[in-house]
Amino acid sequence: MKTIILAGGSGTRLFPISRKKYPKQFLKIGDEKSLFQKTVERSLLAVNPEDLIIITNKDYQFHIKNQLSEVFNDSSVESFNLILEPLGRNTAPAIALAAKFALEKLKVSEDEVLFVSPSDHIISPVEKFAEYMKKAEKIAKEGYIVTFGIRPTKPETGYGYIEADSALSLTETNHNSPSTNPTIYKVRQFHEKPDLETAKEYLAKGNYYWNSGMFAFTIKTIFEEFKKNAPEIYEKVENSTFEEVLENFESMPDTSIDYAVMEKTEKGVVLPLDITWSDVGSWDAFYEVMEKDENRNVKVGNVIDINTKDSLILGNKRVVSTIGIEDLMIIETDDVLLIAKKGEGQKVREVVRKLKESE
Ligand code: GDD
Ligand code: MG
Repeated sequence: MKTIILAGGSGTRLFPISRKKYPKQFLKIGDEKSLFQKTVERSLLAVNPEDLIIITNKDYQFHIKNQLSEVFNDSSVESFNLILEPLGRNTAPAIALAAKFALEKLKVSEDEVLFVSPSDHIISPVEKFAEYMKKAEKIAKEGYIVTFGIRPTKPETGYGYIEADSALSLTETNHNSPSTNPTIYKVRQFHEKPDLETAKEYLAKGNYYWNSGMFAFTIKTIFEEFKKNAPEIYEKVENSTFEEVLENFESMPDTSIDYAVMEKTEKGVVLPLDITWSDVGSWDAFYEVMEKDENRNVKVGNVIDINTKDSLILGNKRVVSTIGIEDLMIIETDDVLLIAKKGEGQKVREVVRKLKESE
């Protein structure tokens, strides 16, 4: 199995700390390691260094190299495979390019399983997650596209939803001990990022999972699915070398794997995950996953809090002092101070948009 780590996104949902030049996956907030560094460490519990394919935008190559050498020794860093995209075309072209790389440069067969992992998630415990990765590899070998489902707790509109169908019966070889043998369901339909009303309906129905953004499939399966559902991507990789695909990367459509393949494929299965998972898609989500003090505050940096409750306070260089507040999120950076009510973190997108307009 090869693991593709997608690390080229430019998410700004944790503005003002995450920016286009410094996206979420490289942030170290409240932790000595970044989400990207932890993704690499987690992946190495299931595969060897030479089985990792890190794919990112050329603009982020220094973040990647610096962060890898902070955590791993030189020989490990050298054995990781690194692909630099000349420009961002979202996850479907990135996956197609990485699959081409595996075939051509790592000389794997079409039956090789690719495990696709985003680099901007919090996952624990990691040992249990590694077991799920190995399980996904076995199911993918049977020709399925494996997704990892998370039991939804709110009508989140930033996620894809997986509508589960009947349970899947697997071949004999896939029956392990009961602890590593969770029920796997066929996917009836994959719905990428619904509106709020639709998300509420999905939540009420019960057989819907959030898509955690991780996938496992063989190269053969994903190429067949590109051919059928995204021929404009398939045609570009089919008869070209890896270098040619890279040279003509600009001509790739800008589309995610969720829209290009997952919404259309009939080969999807979902493996529900029983672990802690967060994509830290907003400051609210960040608050949720962090450890809190006795007043349910999350504090990072030099913070003096008096009579302060249920708040997120991230100081940078200055001392941040609060008196008599609750349910606020305060994020201080060199050039921006963000103060938001808890629960309204998704609206930083509007701030980012206004800022762009005024630039
Ligand atoms: N190499 C590369 N190139 N990586 C990319 C690119 C690109 O052009 N665009 C995004 N990525 C990386 C991001 O860095 C992230 O690690 C991963 O691919 C997913 O991209 P996001 O942009 O973060 O996707 P999303 O969060 O909006 O949605 C996806 O993840 C959700 C769960 O977090 C979808 O799969 C949803 O269905 C899912 O619920
Ligand atoms: Mg994401």
